[in-house]
Amino acid sequence: MEQPVTLKKNGQINIVLNGEKKKVKVSRSIPIDQNQGYIHSKHEPLKKIEEEMSALVGMEEMKKIVKEIYAWIYINKIREEQGLKAGGQVLHMMFKGNPGTGKTTVARLLGTLFKEMNALSKGHLIEAERADLVGEYIGHTAQKTRDLIKKALGGILFVDEAYSLARGGEKDFGKEAIDTLVKHMEDKGNDFILILAGYEKEMNHFLSINPGLRSRFPIVINFPDYTVSQLMEIANKMLLERQYVLAKEAEWKLRDHLQKIKYTRSGTVFSNGRYIRNVIEKSVRAQAMRLLLNDHFEKDELQTIQSEDLLFPEE
Ligand SMILES: Nc1ncnc2c1ncn2[C@@H]1O[C@H](COP(=O)(O)OP(=O)(O)OP(=O)(O)O)[C@@H](O)[C@H]1O
Ligand SMILES: [Mg+2]
Repeated sequence: MEQPVTLKKNGQINIVLNGEKKKVKVSRSIPIDQNQGYIHSKHEPLKKIEEEMSALVGMEEMKKIVKEIYAWIYINKIREEQGLKAGGQVLHMMFKGNPGTGKTTVARLLGTLFKEMNALSKGHLIEAERADLVGEYIGHTAQKTRDLIKKALGGILFVDEAYSLARGGEKDFGKEAIDTLVKHMEDKGNDFILILAGYEKEMNHFLSINPGLRSRFPIVINFPDYTVSQLMEIANKMLLERQYVLAKEAEWKLRDHLQKIKYTRSGTVFSNGRYIRNVIEKSVRAQAMRLLLNDHFEKDELQTIQSEDLLFPEE
């Protein structure tokens, strides 16, 4: 029997419909990936999140895992419909990475995705850190933590620098916060998703002293530091969004500077995307001051960041 769909070198596909051969012209500029097109037409939430993720530079591991999570939730629903075991879906996660590597951005994106997929009813993000969870006297911590969980119901509770909850050991109220979180993660089923985030090394240590936690967070996503090229791409994207561009010299100056701070310093943590955002915000203000003093407001000048405008904040 003839294949129903065949791909030919000249960019045409042959389709056999009711025994009749039809030729369909396919554009050569679009890579022919039939699966992708099919998947997108059937899976609107996936298409939407892929579009949003494509705005993010790098993060290949994260992008792959997010698609897998989508497939997992989707297939589990179908399995349930067909009376098969759906394998109790635990979506609590751990994010490991340095500051400014996009953890909060991704958490927010996941909220939107899970809402679209009905895995969460609201999809909002509540960001918290140690001080929001830990109280000052016995019972205070459990109360504070419960209040936060209440706020996060239907969405995501994102605990940044989660390892700091283990600070101070057994007697510290941080432990009470962890216990309260764990209790509610399990009691409330899928009413909220808990994401614990922090530096990789500290999070690994945190897990090693709380061995019961590892299995409660089946999804672990690593957020690697950006390369200089990726940081440049992030800078250009952020500027473009604000309708600015870097002059050639400014681009060289920024690249040089990033190379220096990334590779000549050691031991200190570099804040990746957040650093780039700070550079841009400072430089946009410096450019405004320069233009104002020069009393010069031509359209392309208004849009161009010159190398003299670039200001590098202390890290
Ligand atoms: N891959 C990326 N592409 C484009 N912009 C990015 C990317 N990663 C981070 N950014 C930008 O960098 C900034 C910091 O990102 P975000 O706040 O998500 O990082 P974080 O890991 O949560 O950092 P922190 O530890 O400081 O909370 C944001 O403005 C974000 O838009
Ligand atoms: Mg953050």
